[in-house]
Amino acid sequence: MEKTTAVIDLDLPGARISRHVYGHFAEHLGRCIYGGFYVGEDSDVPNERGIRLDVVEALRALNIPNLRWPGGCFADDYHWRDGIGPRDERPRMVNSHWGDVVEDNSFGTHEFMDLCELLGTEAYIAGNVGSGSVAEMSEWIEYLTRADDSPMAALRRANGRDEPWKVPYFGIGNEAWGCGGNLRVEQFASLARQYSTYVRNHAGNDVYRIAAGASDGDLHWTEVLMQSFDALDKPEESERPAGPFQAISLHYYTMTGPWADKGAATQFTEDEWYLALERARFMDHLLTRHGQVMDRYDPAKRVGLVVDEWGTWWNVEPGTNPGFLYQQNTLRDALVASVHFDAFHQHADRVVMANIAQTVNVLQAMLLTDPETGALVRTPSYHVFEMNTGHHDADSLDVHLQGVPTRAGEKAELPLVSASASTRGGTALVSLTNLDATAERTVVLDLRGREVTAHSGRVLSAPELATHNTPDAPDAVAPVALEAIRPHERGLEVTLPAHSYATVSLTLA
Ligand code: AHR
Repeated sequence: MEKTTAVIDLDLPGARISRHVYGHFAEHLGRCIYGGFYVGEDSDVPNERGIRLDVVEALRALNIPNLRWPGGCFADDYHWRDGIGPRDERPRMVNSHWGDVVEDNSFGTHEFMDLCELLGTEAYIAGNVGSGSVAEMSEWIEYLTRADDSPMAALRRANGRDEPWKVPYFGIGNEAWGCGGNLRVEQFASLARQYSTYVRNHAGNDVYRIAAGASDGDLHWTEVLMQSFDALDKPEESERPAGPFQAISLHYYTMTGPWADKGAATQFTEDEWYLALERARFMDHLLTRHGQVMDRYDPAKRVGLVVDEWGTWWNVEPGTNPGFLYQQNTLRDALVASVHFDAFHQHADRVVMANIAQTVNVLQAMLLTDPETGALVRTPSYHVFEMNTGHHDADSLDVHLQGVPTRAGEKAELPLVSASASTRGGTALVSLTNLDATAERTVVLDLRGREVTAHSGRVLSAPELATHNTPDAPDAVAPVALEAIRPHERGLEVTLPAHSYATVSLTLA
């Protein structure tokens, strides 16, 4: 069989891959916050101020750049003042989107900012447009970030926090076309301008405002939001637009069935393996199309595109609460992630942030915790995030693939190799995904422009497509050294096992 070749010009760096495309999302949903991140101070699970230390330790290895909270759909029901002050005096509310359970607000603003500090990550707060007020949003950013003795800063101090926090990212609503108010984009665009105006920069905290964007291929939503900017065509000193907001979002989930029966996480056929990966690759198409619309208004690419919800969405695990969105995570999920990252790297000139949904116990999670024993498991997806930390803030490199086998897909031919690369200083990192369910694949890395003085590789695979990690077998899917790397006259030759993800690290002269 003809080998696949990947031509990479190591001396031609492109756009910087923002580390923020490796962002995360934590919603008040199922066991993500409660039981996942937060167990309370009285729990037997080791914790610091109620936050699980094993979760913090595991996530620290991922260098999480930002964490989005409190939703999702929950964000547009959330009133931040309910989540401050003495915990036993906080009002309760109904979490109507997720299980119709009563939320006691014991995890609120202070607990979230505490979590960010423990994780060493930046806060991305999602503000309430759907059922909140402009004043409420304005006061939240004042509470969080103001230094002097303003009313909200004084209230924060009364609740035990003297210093203002930094909040670099603030979402203006969530899914405004659906759970965030069922708005028409024309109406939301006006509201986004208005709400953004009052998310003010206090005490040197420069907020990057992200307006709730489109679902999937809704280009009209993106187009109307792009028309909200006043002067994108006029040269400005700043690289980002002054206002009303600086970025728009996009949500896209991977599933193999219709909404009512999205497919099972662990029980799937080979055809469903390929269908999931084809639908994951659709992210590249979406970024191209939304990017084209944005380019018409903003050819200098100053408005950011933020994919603040992405990942697999399967049927919940049998016997679990349908409103809690708890699902297993297999090798297939890992490759869905690696294919997404290739797309984010390739669109690094427009995609400034992305947030996997969601970090713990919900949808395509990094970590699963056992509700009975508390045991923590790193998922296959976790390992892709860890293997890719070398791409954070590195400069993208084009990868020109030749001789890639394909398979007939639902929309088009599905290429069975996906790749991306980046460079930083004297190093480069190449990502290679072999989507083929049954056949290994040899890839020649045709490395041009700089001398490679050393190399090493890691590979993530498993015997079965649906292999996953459990408390009894926590490392059933875990990266190991990739031995099958050989020198080649054009650079290196790498053999990828069937259904695998690999990274090749290069040291450059
Ligand atoms: O991530 C789960 C939900 O998916 C979010 O709350 C919502 O924004 C989206 O529909």
